[in-house]
Amino acid sequence: MSNKKVVIAGGGVLGTQIGLICAYHGFDTTFWLRSESSIGRTTPKIERYSALMIEDLLKAKALVGNPMGAFMYPKGMISDWLGMTAEKIDELAEEAKRILKENIHIELDMAKAVKGAYIVIESMSEDPKAKIDVYTAMKDLLDEDTILCTNSSTLLPSMFAEYTGRPEKYCSLHFANTIWKNNTAEIMGHPGTSPETFNAVVKFAEEIGMVPLQLHKEQPGYILNSMLVPFLSAAQALWANGVSDPETIDLTWRLATGAPAGPFQILDIVGLETAYNINQMKPAAQQEGTIENMIGKLLKEKIDRGEKGVNFGKGFYEYK
Ligand SMILES: NC(=O)c1ccc[n+]([C@@H]2O[C@H](COP(=O)([O-])OP(=O)(O)OC[C@H]3O[C@@H](n4cnc5c(N)ncnc54)[C@H](O)[C@@H]3O)[C@@H](O)[C@H]2O)c1
Repeated sequence: MSNKKVVIAGGGVLGTQIGLICAYHGFDTTFWLRSESSIGRTTPKIERYSALMIEDLLKAKALVGNPMGAFMYPKGMISDWLGMTAEKIDELAEEAKRILKENIHIELDMAKAVKGAYIVIESMSEDPKAKIDVYTAMKDLLDEDTILCTNSSTLLPSMFAEYTGRPEKYCSLHFANTIWKNNTAEIMGHPGTSPETFNAVVKFAEEIGMVPLQLHKEQPGYILNSMLVPFLSAAQALWANGVSDPETIDLTWRLATGAPAGPFQILDIVGLETAYNINQMKPAAQQEGTIENMIGKLLKEKIDRGEKGVNFGKGFYEYK
């Protein structure tokens, strides 16, 4: 149990999940939101993700003793899987119901929200101007020692360091969606981040059940997306070019590498809309006759048919 205060700026998909995992691990957690209507949007998300976390925790009871269990339990919520029993999981779930309520607070007043914070994690929309405005408003309100992190997926911390008023105490702390299961935390400083801050963020990530993945320099896309995006693009190019079909491409990957899922199975999890948006950002996607243009058209056809991935029951595969 920690008495450290964590503040999350932004109560969207990821902000809510980050706040909840901090609360689950005993941190006093405050969401700073900008308006009453933001509260109206964030409160149901807190409820929904709390319920999902507890549901996944309870589902893990069926995995105790199952050899595949070690790959499937909610890793961000259970630190010692080997010692787990169904009774212990029930206890964790009961405790979670209590602390996910007790440790969560919402505050509209930025000064009140950030006062006494050990760490503030900014998880607002991917809008540089909005992030700069909030950092600028926040910089004189933060305690001297407060660490400031961004969860941005595509923007580098060096773009914002100068606006934070504390460049040496600022870095990226990047989480994955469904944080309680996918417990990666990529930690990336900008050239001015102090080693003390970097190490403190690594330790904090461990304290909230994450596996800290340290980057030694700035890299757009961090480690994961620097590999995943070209990999998925290469698979889509094989498909769009008519070289092979998604099932065969996936089978090739699984058989040859021992990986549990192929690129099109991964695309179904990521969601075809996200894949489409990433593809359309490439200038070649706008030029008729390019492979990126063909990929865009094929993905759009599937999206228009409602085949958007696992969450929609169908993507490249069908899900019951
Ligand atoms: N969604 C993902 O899978 C994912 C994964 C890792 C990291 N991220 C990163 O997390 C951040 C948030 O993404 P998300 O998916 O949660 O987005 P989202 O759209 O669900 O939420 C964004 C939140 O930012 C708030 N916001 C926007 N402008 C604001 C302002 N000016 N002041 C205060 N609040 C403001 C919105 O009200 C909303 O609550 C982004 O930087 C994104 O790159 C997202």
